[in-house]
Amino acid sequence: MDNKNRPIGFFDSGVGGLSVMREAIRLMPNEDYIYFGDSKNAPYGIKTVDEVRTLTVEAFEYLLKKNVKAIVVACNTATSAAIDLVRDKYKDIPIIGIEPALKLAVKYNRKGNIIIMATPMTLREKKFKALMKRYAKDHDIVSLPCAKLVELIENGIITGKELEDYLKEKFKPYDNKDIGVVVLGCTHYPFIKETLHKLINEDIPIIDGGFGTSQELKRRLKEKNLLNTKEKKGNITIINSNGNEDIIELSKRLIEIS
Ligand code: DGL
Repeated sequence: MDNKNRPIGFFDSGVGGLSVMREAIRLMPNEDYIYFGDSKNAPYGIKTVDEVRTLTVEAFEYLLKKNVKAIVVACNTATSAAIDLVRDKYKDIPIIGIEPALKLAVKYNRKGNIIIMATPMTLREKKFKALMKRYAKDHDIVSLPCAKLVELIENGIITGKELEDYLKEKFKPYDNKDIGVVVLGCTHYPFIKETLHKLINEDIPIIDGGFGTSQELKRRLKEKNLLNTKEKKGNITIINSNGNEDIIELSKRLIEIS
């Protein structure tokens, strides 16, 4: 098979990475995609770094057997724990990770706090610490760990009272007028963006790294001459470690939400 025609692999701890893959599909609709969600082991954000590294390597082995031409680690938590490891181990294919979109948040140049919502692990790891170091001296950055949010979203709870109560509690210490921008530093969170916008002022930007990551993916494929040149729409395959049909149904529903 011509290398250009091989599929692109996406990986996340569960359904979150679909928020990144849908951006990639918009940008490169003629590519084939294989998504592997590890919902059986989600959430990753409260595991140890070693556990997440082992699970990430297992996901890579699985996707490589599917003959993928590149892998997107569409999970901030797995990126912070394991991106160096997999880049070192799998040198032959482009590997694209994701990190909280702090650089983009700073560009908005708005007054007030930059609130970074993410998993406890992402906020604790050295990758994020390095990002903070770069921007914290000129900006007010607040880390907001949201440990339970992934579980809610994995259960298909992306609207409703339980979610609203959780978010209200999280944002209670911050007055609307003090919030400059909110960064969704976990790929599950874009699915609750609308609910969050109901709770904070409409003019506060809520941003994520899905589009930027997809642009980076395209750039890397182009650089390696791996962009698919066929004209028709590509195939999308969604696989999940939790063998339950419900999670595939949820995945299909989420990928259609814009
Ligand atoms: N989507 C993952 C992320 O971007 C969620 C990690 C988890 O399972 O806790 O961080």
